Amino acid sequence: MKFQSIVVLILFALFIACNQETPKQEPITSDSRPDRHSFSQPKLAVAKHLDLNLKVDFDQKKLYGTATWTIENLGKAKEIIFDTDGLNIVKVTVGQEAKEVQFLLDAQDSVLGAALHVPIEPTTNLVAIEYQTGPNAAALGWMDASMTAGKTKPFLFTQGQAILTRSWIPCQDSPGNRITYHANVSDVPDGMMAVMSATNPQEPAKNTYTFKMDQPIPPYLIALAIGDIAFKPISERTGVYAEPVMLDKVAWEFADMEKMVETAESLYGPYAWGRYDVIVLPPGFPFGGMENPRLTFATPTVIAGDRSLVSLVAHELAHSWSGNLVTNATWSDFWLNEGFTVYFERRIMEALYGADFAEMQDELEYNELIEEMKSLDSADTRLKVDMTGRNPDDGATMVPYQKGSMFLRMLEQKTDREKWDAFLKSWFEANKFTSRTTEDFLDFLKKNYLDKYQVTANVEEWVYKPGIPANCPIPHSTRLAALEKAAQDIANGLPNTKNWAPQEWVHFIRSLPESTNVATFKNLDSKFHLTQSTNAQVQLAWYEVNIRHGYVTEILPQVENYLVTVGRRYLVKAVYQALKDIGHIEDARRIFAKAKPGYHAVTRGTIEEMLK
Ligand code: BES
Ligand code: ZN
Repeated sequence: MKFQSIVVLILFALFIACNQETPKQEPITSDSRPDRHSFSQPKLAVAKHLDLNLKVDFDQKKLYGTATWTIENLGKAKEIIFDTDGLNIVKVTVGQEAKEVQFLLDAQDSVLGAALHVPIEPTTNLVAIEYQTGPNAAALGWMDASMTAGKTKPFLFTQGQAILTRSWIPCQDSPGNRITYHANVSDVPDGMMAVMSATNPQEPAKNTYTFKMDQPIPPYLIALAIGDIAFKPISERTGVYAEPVMLDKVAWEFADMEKMVETAESLYGPYAWGRYDVIVLPPGFPFGGMENPRLTFATPTVIAGDRSLVSLVAHELAHSWSGNLVTNATWSDFWLNEGFTVYFERRIMEALYGADFAEMQDELEYNELIEEMKSLDSADTRLKVDMTGRNPDDGATMVPYQKGSMFLRMLEQKTDREKWDAFLKSWFEANKFTSRTTEDFLDFLKKNYLDKYQVTANVEEWVYKPGIPANCPIPHSTRLAALEKAAQDIANGLPNTKNWAPQEWVHFIRSLPESTNVATFKNLDSKFHLTQSTNAQVQLAWYEVNIRHGYVTEILPQVENYLVTVGRRYLVKAVYQALKDIGHIEDARRIFAKAKPGYHAVTRGTIEEMLK
């Protein structure tokens, strides 16, 4: 090649490069990226309101979207950064005039996804991103008709927490950012209804639905469900959504919802979100519950037929204060969401169903905490955990939940409930619709509680040190103590199990001595039909303990049926683990292969990793 043509080529390449409008990145400081699980730099340019237009395609299992963000350029940022994960970005325009711009999509990080850089001017106030979701969008649970209760129509639900919203909406996906949103969801197939964490329909419409959430929420709380859904009211402001074949059962199970809201309000101030509804999803939903504002998402495994598992509603409702009104600023502050919520859940349960029942639940979860801590790194038993560089979901252990709750109980006992409740109420009131760090809370605690009532507490030890401090108020339930005795005495005969709650069954099963032989398990089974139980909590305990004691072959068909029909990660994980541990990994793999299509990515990922 001649020298001149090389020069021409280089000049041409330079010309192209300069015209790419690729923005120069501002230096990243910890201040401009306060949350290491988001690529966004909201101190420089922040997205505040979302107008979302979505078309749903159940055949392709794909969403076609335009996310129009109202933004503010706070300094003289040359770009605004959004989080994405697996999104196919079609086109980006800026400003009222919708001028198309050259965006830049970084390489994909396996945990965080890919930063989307959009060039902006100091005055740019709108950014519209046209996109399609990818084939493995982690937030999306596409259920075929066969995986629903009615078996006639498919179902879609989303799960945003912790950092999955970016796989269905380009957004500044940090719990430290708050946004409002309006959405328009179209191409909803005939006979199906769409609902969101927003104002909701109660009747099916014709293929298109509109939604408004005008209170600022973190992006992980944007949620959508579409399916053959019907609504039934419980009270003026509460109600349930479910597939029609489940609706009456669900309404019966959750009949106390209004009472729960009233109890919660009497403790920590008015419910801030207008309506409180719950939707019961197909079994593929990977969690027990998710506190999407105005509309809790729940697993069908809590519809036990005896109202025994309604503490889940108390828990998700409590998040309307702890989590949704006052949000953890980063995923390292996760205990601010869950520890407060468990504490609050116990208070609701105590007020409605008695101290006895609440204490029992508390001890059961304390036992789970102690059990889980045996396998955790000591650093992960601190309340404030540094989740930088890790998947925030790995921080969702019993530590932020139960240790967090016991920390608050310890503080409560420093004075009395009147003072403590007034303090907690003031925390929610003073910080409503904001996102807060652990340190924000500790400052507030010192000023408004410890100093005010002149009490001292080993706060630093509880929050920043591993393990359970010596002054932990360990829960003790007399109901459970009686069961332990019955379990220890099992060799001398079967206990009187009249009126046992499922929680008591679970504890009894787990308290059986190590030495219990297969004959005893068979004996228990023939008397109490535990293998045939339809209570998922009882099934979990019974199957896990039996497998570990070698009572496997006889119950395997029921275990298989359970693992194929239940998709909640917590309920299936321990059963697969038990099969693996006793050398039945081939059975585990075979069952998993069959169950997998009905699992959400969250559950699938965990089990895949375990059985690989
Ligand atoms: N917010 C959580 C669920 C969650 C946590 C999803 C972390 C993704 C990441 C919800 O409030 C919760 O704690 N659910 C529990 C049930 C509850 C009764 C303890 C669950 O799903 O097991
Ligand atoms: Zn929770």
